[in-house]
Amino acid sequence: MGSTIFAEMSALAVATGSVNLGQGFPDTDGPREVAEAAAAAILEGRGNQYPPGPGIPELRQAVAAHQRRFYGLGFDPDTEVLVTAGATEAVAAALFALVEPGDEVIAFEPYYDSYAACIALAGGIRVPVTLRAPDFRPDLDALRAAVTPRTRLILLNSPHNPTGSVFSRAELTAIAELARERDLLVISDEVYEHMVYAGEHVPIGSLPGMRERTVSISSAGKTFSFTGWKVGWVTASAELVAAVRAVKQFLTFVNSGPFQYAIAEALRMPDAYFAGIGAGLRAKRDLLCGGLAEAGFLVYPPEGTYFVTTDIRGLGDASGVEFCRDLPHQAGVVAIPNAVFYDDPEAGRTQVRFAFCKRPEVLADALARLEKWALRR
Ligand SMILES: Cc1ncc(COP(=O)(O)O)c(C=O)c1O
Repeated sequence: MGSTIFAEMSALAVATGSVNLGQGFPDTDGPREVAEAAAAAILEGRGNQYPPGPGIPELRQAVAAHQRRFYGLGFDPDTEVLVTAGATEAVAAALFALVEPGDEVIAFEPYYDSYAACIALAGGIRVPVTLRAPDFRPDLDALRAAVTPRTRLILLNSPHNPTGSVFSRAELTAIAELARERDLLVISDEVYEHMVYAGEHVPIGSLPGMRERTVSISSAGKTFSFTGWKVGWVTASAELVAAVRAVKQFLTFVNSGPFQYAIAEALRMPDAYFAGIGAGLRAKRDLLCGGLAEAGFLVYPPEGTYFVTTDIRGLGDASGVEFCRDLPHQAGVVAIPNAVFYDDPEAGRTQVRFAFCKRPEVLADALARLEKWALRR
C-alpha cells in the first residue's frame, strides 16, 4: 500500500493546495558544485554512453574512500563496491541475489515500502519484527524468536524510516551475534547514515565477523539531496558483490552515467559538508517537532532520518489513514499514515509521519496551517 498512498497523497496535495510533508524528498537541490560537475560530465561526454557495469572506477574509489574515512572500513573498489540505480535497486538486487523461494527474511516493521514488494518478488517470506512506540527500539528477544531454520537474512535499516530510530552499537552487536550464531546474512540499508541527531551511526558490517555476511547499502540521493539522480551503492565482500552485480546486470545493467562522475566528486567533499547535513536538519526537526506538539500531536522525536513519527490519539478517534485523507482538506497539510509500513495493522494505526527535509519557510507555513486548524477544532 506504501507507494499507492504516496501517489494518492501527492495528488491530494496538488488538488487541495496543501503543503506536502508526505513523501521524503528535499525541496532544495544539493550543492551547486555537484550539479555543475554533472552538467560538465554531460557536456564533456563523460558517462553519456553506458558506463562500466560495476560503476565508473572514480565513483567506486570514492565510495571505498568514504567507507574508510567515516568508518575505517576497507573495501577494494574493483571487487567490493557496486554502483546501483539508487538504494532501491541495491535492496532489490541484493534480495533477488540472496533469497531463494521459501526463504524467510526478517525485517523490522514499519518498513520502507519496497522491502515487502522485493521480498515477495524474490519468492521469500517476510517475517516482521515490530518496532514499538514510544522509542521504537529493536526487540531483541522477538528478533531471536523470529529466527527459524528457514531464515536466510535480516534486512536492517538504521537510521530507520519512518520511526527515526538509530540502532545503538549494543543493539547492533546483539543483532550481529545472532546473525553469526545462526549463520544469517544481513542487508543493511544505511541511506540516512549522515542524518543522525542522537547517538552515532554504526554500520553493522563494521562489527566483528560481520564483514563477510553483510551487504551495506547507501545512496547519494539522501546524502547529497539529489534524489532524482538515482545513484546508490553496495559495499560487501567480493563474493556478495558478485552475486548482487549478477542481478543488477539484468535489472538496469548500468545507470546514471554522468551523475556518477558528479557523485564521485561529491563524496570527496570535506568533513564539514557531511557534518553540516545533520546540523541543518536538526534545526528543521526541532522546528517541526515543536510545532506538531503544539498542534496536539504526540511527537516521537527522531534520532535520525528526515522523518518524524507522531501519534494522533489526542486528536480524535480517526485512524491514521482516515486522518491523512482528511488533513489536506481540513488543514492544507499532507502527511503519511505509518499503517502502510506495517504488516500488523494495529501496530501503526494511529501513527502519522511528516517529512522535515523542506525549507524552513515551508515548514513554518505547514505549522501555521496546523495551528489554525488546531484552534478551529
Ligand atoms: C529506507 C530507505 N531505503 C531506500 C530508499 C531509496 O533510496 P534511493 O532513492 O536511493 O533509491 C529510501 C528513500 O526514501 C529509504 O527511505
